[in-house]
Amino acid sequence: MTPDEFFQAVFEQISQYVGSQFDDVPISSKIPPSSLKKISDLKLPLEGMGLHNALSDLATFFEHSIRTHAPGFMNPLWGGMSLTGVAGDMVASVTNNSMYTRELSPFASLIEIEILQRACELIGYAHGFGSFTSGGSSGNLMGLLCARQHLRQDSGLNGFDGSKHVIFVSEEAHFSVMMAANVTGIGRQNVMKIRCLEDGSMDVNHLEEEILFTKREGFVPLCVIATAGTTVLGSFDPIRDIVRVAKSHNIWCHVDAAWGGMALFSSSTRKLLDGIEQSDSVCWDAHKMMGLPLMSSMFLVNDVLLLRKVCSHTTDADYLYYEEDNEYDLGHYSLQCARRNDVLKLWLAWREIGDAGWAKMVEQYLDFANYLEQKVTENEQLEMMAPRMWSNVCFRYHPSGTDVDLDSVNAEIRERLKNEGKFMVSRAKVRGFIVLRAVIANNAVSKESIDAFVGNVIRIGNDVLKGLPPKY
Ligand SMILES: Cc1ncc(COP(=O)(O)O)c(C=O)c1O
Repeated sequence: MTPDEFFQAVFEQISQYVGSQFDDVPISSKIPPSSLKKISDLKLPLEGMGLHNALSDLATFFEHSIRTHAPGFMNPLWGGMSLTGVAGDMVASVTNNSMYTRELSPFASLIEIEILQRACELIGYAHGFGSFTSGGSSGNLMGLLCARQHLRQDSGLNGFDGSKHVIFVSEEAHFSVMMAANVTGIGRQNVMKIRCLEDGSMDVNHLEEEILFTKREGFVPLCVIATAGTTVLGSFDPIRDIVRVAKSHNIWCHVDAAWGGMALFSSSTRKLLDGIEQSDSVCWDAHKMMGLPLMSSMFLVNDVLLLRKVCSHTTDADYLYYEEDNEYDLGHYSLQCARRNDVLKLWLAWREIGDAGWAKMVEQYLDFANYLEQKVTENEQLEMMAPRMWSNVCFRYHPSGTDVDLDSVNAEIRERLKNEGKFMVSRAKVRGFIVLRAVIANNAVSKESIDAFVGNVIRIGNDVLKGLPPKY
């Protein structure tokens, strides 16, 4: 088999998979994850099995993959399919350039600089810069490292005892903040969880009280992290107020906009990020609402020199970094050495649809989320479980007059939905109650698919209440 024949065959499989987006194929394979290992041939052979076998392995892989591009996939904070995004991702693999130096990724470095500068412009960082990272979790880690550098300039060189330092996040913040506290030496118990208001946004009065309290107790505040788009509720912390409080105590203010960064594109949503231009750093995932294939994520900072100091790990790698390309070698702004090209896909998609296309996308997702919320509130058997700011819709099945364990009923509804294969949403907890969290971040979702989703939740809920067995 020639490389050409091999790739033709691979492309046929890809194109069949892409083309089946709206077909009546279950989102997840009928084989449950617990049985998959038993029926799969995963062994690594002594003698190679050749290209033909790779084709059948790929077919098996497609068969058992979750169909994240299907219209019923509303489970995590990403989904759908960007054709230019997929093309960019494939070409990034084929060309296999590494982003550490301009010499080894000449065009990609220019693209990355262009996108980082444009993202800073959208945020309002006049001379900002940044790096592509392996995701919002790494972006939060970089935010904390910058905060550490801001407070203790010698910490990268001499080490850092973080045990007397604290960081502040809302109680709805993403768990990657705990990872970042662990990795930076602050420690998870030094993460102060600030109370949220009814709408899931940080209570700034409580933040101020906690900062004063921890200072009185002899702790040193290191960073405040505002979340722009929380994971479960999609709430936005009041960035302008948070920055004001943080600055009055000379504390670094990082914004976790992994999920909500896309609000920057539309004049109708930008106000959710009011004050972001005054923050010190931001992380923003293009692989979430913008629909790029995993991963494509930016870390952005207002003080580029500080970022360079955080990332100045070596002066010895003279086999890689040459003086003349210092400014363009993007490895100087990253925690990684070799780094995949995660920017080509974003650049292609951005050029395909433009700022106006992103604005339209975010507006449409919010319209769909409004529509779903309306369907829920109109229906007596359903109830919204949290106020909404973004495209997260947290609700549950709750027919009036029933005296049943609603947590088990809703957990069962989600399980049956998933097993029937048409819809996949996640299960989360709001105020201690199990809810169905449907997230609109998938360009295949439509009003029709939302109608069908609501109908299915009610049908399954009624079956569960009547004690009827599942239909699969
Ligand atoms: C608010 C928020 N921040 C950060 C992250 C982590 O992002 P990633 O999965 O890209 O590491 C998530 C993930 O869902 C998130 O919801």
